[in-house]
This record gives sequence, structure tokens and C-alpha cells, in this order.
Amino acid sequence: MIAQAALFVRQFHEEQPGAGDPSPRLREVLSEIERTGTYRHTPAELAFGAKVAWRNAARCIGRLYWRSLVVRDLRHVSGPQEMARECFAHLRTAANGGRIRPVVTVFAPDRPGLPAPRIVNSQLVRYAGYRGPDGGWTGDPAGGELARRARELEWKSGEGRFDVLPLMIQRRPGEAPQWFEVPDDAVLEVELRHPEFGWFAELGLRWYAVPAISDMTLEIGGVRYPAAPFNGWYMGTEIGARNLADADRYDMLGEVGRRLGLDTSSARTLWRDRALVEVNLAVLHSFQEAGVTMADHHTESERFLRHVAQEARAGRPTPTDWSWIVPPVSGGLTPVYHRYYDPVDPDQRPAFLTREPW
Ligand code: ARG
Repeated sequence: MIAQAALFVRQFHEEQPGAGDPSPRLREVLSEIERTGTYRHTPAELAFGAKVAWRNAARCIGRLYWRSLVVRDLRHVSGPQEMARECFAHLRTAANGGRIRPVVTVFAPDRPGLPAPRIVNSQLVRYAGYRGPDGGWTGDPAGGELARRARELEWKSGEGRFDVLPLMIQRRPGEAPQWFEVPDDAVLEVELRHPEFGWFAELGLRWYAVPAISDMTLEIGGVRYPAAPFNGWYMGTEIGARNLADADRYDMLGEVGRRLGLDTSSARTLWRDRALVEVNLAVLHSFQEAGVTMADHHTESERFLRHVAQEARAGRPTPTDWSWIVPPVSGGLTPVYHRYYDPVDPDQRPAFLTREPW
């Protein structure tokens, strides 16, 4: 804790113009740690730490805008009910009527001997998945486990393909999570249509506008914030080439290929590839028409390389995981494909970390 805290306070003072000499703050932090086993970040330290955690996210292609992150300081909130209410407020302020804003909400940190509550869901908004007696899925198989757990806790599930899961918050290890239905007005969604093919709308597909990751710990200067949901905006391929296309997700390519009248008898006809492009086009088109922020993979790739160059000018490396940055369609058409990156350093902080399970 002491070593991490000192590193962070020094970094804060180095990077923040006008923050001045770190020594007084260092002394203060060290004595607070000696007295209490932890320390409190100033609001400015928290905001800086959260932004740098985003900047350090080696798997994120959207980091150019790291400075614009809106940081909601809710460290005083640790009750499940109030946390849920603030998560819904997060979704509304992030959705912003379609002009998506990157937002992080930071709830209470872990303290020595006193772990803070956690959000069980992997994202604030996600669709439930239900397995039928024949083994087939309705909805999103990635939301299967959570739907099952919520039902065990008496959540009355629907039977739709796009039922929003309840938000589940767990106060401590071994205790049952409490669940809260996400209000409709907190979930902005877009119905998917294709710019040319009228039948596409009949597939009844839709997706939510705000991807808000809620199962990662924000670690800043040795302090862990296990409930710190954050969002950016979607890049179309996340939905079009993965969520709707993966065989273990909505698995839509077969139906789209048939509707397109493609020869699906052999992989060599590239029917899957052709169907995939049309699904991705429908996603980008529909978000655009609905006035909801979404990036395409060509534009976002270019922005990312601008970010890498900008960081280099500031004297900083940009550790990057190639396999996460290259988009899942048309990789070689984007500039991010044709180069290597600074190696990922798992010890880099501040960071958003995968959370250890309770
Ligand atoms: N890939 C995830 C999804 O499809 C979201 C991950 C975060 N994405 C983002 N654009 N910030 O739901």
C-alpha cells in the first residue's frame, strides 16, 4: 500500500501541471496509512487515477478520449439500494439522449478488514439467456448464468430474447446478492434495420446503447474500488461481429445468410463473411439513424493510432494487446493491424483489473 501510494502521488504531481511539490501530500498519505491502514484520495486524485486507468487499458481501442472521462465520485455510497439507484443515474447520464458520454461511477473502496460491496453483473445492462428443454437458447447465452442466479433469488424473468437482467449487488462474501429491476427509462436501446433489406427488421434484433462494464476493480495508488462501473460508446463490430454473430451468443449468421439467399452449402462460398458484413452495416446504420453515438472500426482504428502518437509525444508508451485491438472483421483493412505495440505490463497502475471472485 505504502509503495503504491507513493508511486501514485508522485505520478499525480508529475503529470498535473501546477500540482507542485509532492512532499507534503506524501507525508500526509503515509501518516494516514500508518494510522488507519489506508488513505482517502482527494477528488482530483480520484479523477486523475480513473482517467489514467482508462489510458492504461491495453485492450481498449477507444483510449484517445481518456481525458474526457466523467468521474462520478460516490465513494460515500455503499448501500445496495442507493448503489442501484446511482447505477441507473449513471446509465441515464452516459446515454445523454444518444450523445454517449464516457462515465465512471466510483463507489466505496475496500478498507482493511472491510470489503466494499460488488456489482455481480458484468455490465449494468445485459440481456438474459434462457436454455430450453432442447438445449437451445432464447436470448443471450452470455446472460444465462446471471439469469439463473437471479431466478433463484425470485426474480420473475420474462421469456424474451432481449430481457434486461436485474442489477445484482452483493454486500459481502457468502451473502446472497440483492437484485433491482433496471428501469426502462435508464436503458436506451436501438432496433436494428438494414439500409437496403426490408426483411432485416423482421429479425427483431436490437441492442442497448451504453456498454457499462461493472465487474472490474479500479485500483489507484494501492486503493481498490471494486464497484466502479465505467462506459464508453460502442464500436459497431462488438455488436455486429461478436454479440449477434458468435456461435455461443445470438448466432444470427445462418438466418441472415438464408434470407440473403446465399449458398450456405460450403464455407468456401464465403456466405458467413457476406452475412457478417450486412449485419455490421445494419448495426452502424441503425445507431446512426437513431442518433446514438457509435464508432465504426475504420474510424476508431485511426483514432487509436493518433492516441499512440500523442502519447509518444508526451514521452509515454501505450501498452497494447494486439489481439484485442484488431477488429474482428476486416482486420487487415484497418491500420492497427499492420504493426506491433508496446508490451503489456500487468503491474501497471492505476488500472481496471479483473476482479477476484468472492
Ligand atoms: N464488447 C462488450 C460488449 O459487446 C463491451 C466492452 C466495452 N466496449 C466499449 N465500447 N466500451 O458488450
